[in-house]
Amino acid sequence: MTDPGGAEGEGTSGSEGRGPEDAFIRLRGAARTYGEGRARVQALLPVDLDIAAGDYVSIAGPSGSGKTTMMNLIGCLDRPSAGSVEIDGRDVAGMSEEELARLRRETIGFVFQQFNLLPRSSARDNVAMPLVYHGVGRSERERRADDLLQRVGLGDRTTHRPNELSGGQQQRVAIARALVGAPRLILADEPTGALDTKTSGEIIALLESLNREEGVTLVVVTHEPALAARAARRIAMLDGRIQSDERGAAAQADRAEP
Ligand SMILES: Nc1ncnc2c1ncn2[C@@H]1O[C@H](COP(=O)(O)OP(=O)(O)O)[C@@H](O)[C@H]1O
Ligand SMILES: [Mg+2]
Repeated sequence: MTDPGGAEGEGTSGSEGRGPEDAFIRLRGAARTYGEGRARVQALLPVDLDIAAGDYVSIAGPSGSGKTTMMNLIGCLDRPSAGSVEIDGRDVAGMSEEELARLRRETIGFVFQQFNLLPRSSARDNVAMPLVYHGVGRSERERRADDLLQRVGLGDRTTHRPNELSGGQQQRVAIARALVGAPRLILADEPTGALDTKTSGEIIALLESLNREEGVTLVVVTHEPALAARAARRIAMLDGRIQSDERGAAAQADRAEP
């Protein structure tokens, strides 16, 4: 079994005095199985996990170890087969699909490996699109999209379409899009999986700046050890379980050199 209390209790880097009662994300016995009978896969064994607001957490582990399954539960993109998931003190189990969609829209920004941009739309329109669901008018949507593109260093690429941008630039557009709802939590699942090493470092540094400067809670899935090591708290998964959960000064030193 995992021991989230132990990791929280060390209090060595930035969350001093925070106990599990302050958890922004709380999983209790949360498990996920896929399929039935012979095809049944236990993708995530029952896990207890608390993540404090403002923390920077990496989730590492080999392919198939359950990283995305756990992220999808944290991000309310999926529901657990057993156990509970609470976001900001609210149990996800009792929520309708509509309430879940609203929670995601207002609280969480998602960044994925494959960017998931609309290919025929400009960077501006990709970023502005979610604001339609926030009930924002067109000119205001475009103004905010341009501000966010500026924020991620793409102020001069607002009218470019995805195929006119590099991979790193496309991921920046996706990050700008993730920021439209002013999320308190950013979930990035292998955000650098399709990028070269130098660009990966730049993308992680951009995500880290949102954590550091705006206090956004940052959870990054990566199978690259050097990137995982930069986080304040480092979770490693294996075979559907949390294998280790560390917080410590060594990684803080790494983190100071982007
Ligand atoms: N939709 C699904 N249906 C059936 N099995 C799945 C599904 N999604 C994931 N799995 C299985 O669950 C396990 C964990 O997958 P995943 O969470 O995607 O791992 P990771 O992100 O660490 O690569 C794997 O064995 C995978 O094949
Ligand atoms: Mg995955």
